[in-house]
Amino acid sequence: MAKIINVGTLISGGGSNLQAIIDACMAGSVDARILFTGSDTFGAKGLERARKADIDTFVVDYGDIIQSCKQGIDDRRVPPDFDLGDILEKQQLVIGDSSSDVSKEKIKFFLKSRAIAEKKLLDHILSYEIDLLVLAGFMRVLTPYFIDRLNTVEGQFKIMNIHPALLPSFPGTDGYGDTFRYGCKIGGCTVHFVDYGEDTGPIIGQKAFEIEVGDTLDDVKRKGLEKEWELYPACIQKFAESL
Ligand code: GRF
Repeated sequence: MAKIINVGTLISGGGSNLQAIIDACMAGSVDARILFTGSDTFGAKGLERARKADIDTFVVDYGDIIQSCKQGIDDRRVPPDFDLGDILEKQQLVIGDSSSDVSKEKIKFFLKSRAIAEKKLLDHILSYEIDLLVLAGFMRVLTPYFIDRLNTVEGQFKIMNIHPALLPSFPGTDGYGDTFRYGCKIGGCTVHFVDYGEDTGPIIGQKAFEIEVGDTLDDVKRKGLEKEWELYPACIQKFAESL
């Protein structure tokens, strides 16, 4: 048995992966305890799953923050330790063609508005002592500002994500949709560590399934989720055993 690790979770939606991890912790097949579940929206149904399991919850309303930034960002709202030059250099999130002035402004807006939201996330997260942050269907890109405040030991990743495709194929927001529309005969899911790119971090585990003739996109999503519920707890356990 590995040491029991402390895990934080972030979600945006239904939280079926969160539920699989809660169940695996309860069953003792994963040596972890979940200290909190945070969300970027009050509407995340998974928050209820967390509450039922007696897990602390919090919400940082990204939609509201981004909307308010659209009126213009008062620099006093940006975290004092946010260094735009440093973040611009590190970020590998592809946001259009950065050669024009308009695109440069868009990138700056993106990074500053996200840092305002991320600082609020960090205020919650860093009040806990966690070994690992698990993104369980958290539909927001995390910038280097956030990542650097979790990954404080050089070379050690502390943030894990699940992606609904067999990376490096089909990164982005619609992995199962992209897999299905491409006509793939095999779909899958990937658990990976989070780095400065979008779905580019080191792969921890993958599971695949067959896409049969006549399968619909809903079939692909269902098959994929069933694999995710096995894969995510197994990858967290692998992480716990590595400490
Ligand atoms: C999963 O398909 C996951 O791969 C993706 O978002 C979905 C979350 O589902 N990132 P749930 O909220 O865990 O049910």
